[in-house]
Amino acid sequence: MKKIKIAASLLAADFSQLEKEVKMVERAGAELLHLDIMDGHFVKNISFGPGVLKALRRRTKLVFDTHLMIKNPKNYLAEFAKSGSDIITFHIETTKNPKELIKSIRKLGCSPGISLNPRTSLSRIKPFLKDVDLILIMSVNPGLGGQKFIPSSLTKLRELKSIIRKKNLSVDLEVDGGINRKTAKKAVSAGANILVAGTYIFHSRNPQKKIKELRCSGSKKRGN
Ligand code: DX5
Ligand code: ZN
Repeated sequence: MKKIKIAASLLAADFSQLEKEVKMVERAGAELLHLDIMDGHFVKNISFGPGVLKALRRRTKLVFDTHLMIKNPKNYLAEFAKSGSDIITFHIETTKNPKELIKSIRKLGCSPGISLNPRTSLSRIKPFLKDVDLILIMSVNPGLGGQKFIPSSLTKLRELKSIIRKKNLSVDLEVDGGINRKTAKKAVSAGANILVAGTYIFHSRNPQKKIKELRCSGSKKRGN
């Protein structure tokens, strides 16, 4: 079984204190910093861009987990790689040629990931499972932090996990949106091994405890 990793989503941080917030979650035990890039086209919201990653890259050793919620990912891969991304995940809904994007991301020295919206069928990403390092299952509709976990994402996680097991692949299963102690437990028992959490960590008085709670939700065998 893969170790459970925690990806703290910067979207929920205090933007006036970014360096402090990032160092705080690093000290608190997160392994990844989840960076939600929104362009106002693929999703309504606009978040931040490569300049923010570049500035933070010098201040932390956290793995940069870049989640592109943008209409033309192809045009921005090089910039996000150059700004310090370790993982670059694009949405399957944004491209007709996922293989080309996956190849480019690898060529840029990053790990490729694919994401899909709650309403997008798993069949869209199945052909690429052996080509990517990570699948990001959206458990809310992308665009905003602080939403409620959509339970049908558990079915997707279970199905994916079983395919991954059968094919003996080593792809990571990441779940994103509405993650708290309860939903983390469900997601982990359905097969997720990377948990993205924004609100739950950053809006807490004790982020270290919250991160520990999320991680421990994985160590319990059962959890419904
Ligand atoms: C939503 C983003 C998420 C979001 C998660 O579009 O992809 O990463 O920041 O936030 P919480 O944990 O608050 O649901
Ligand atoms: Zn995200």
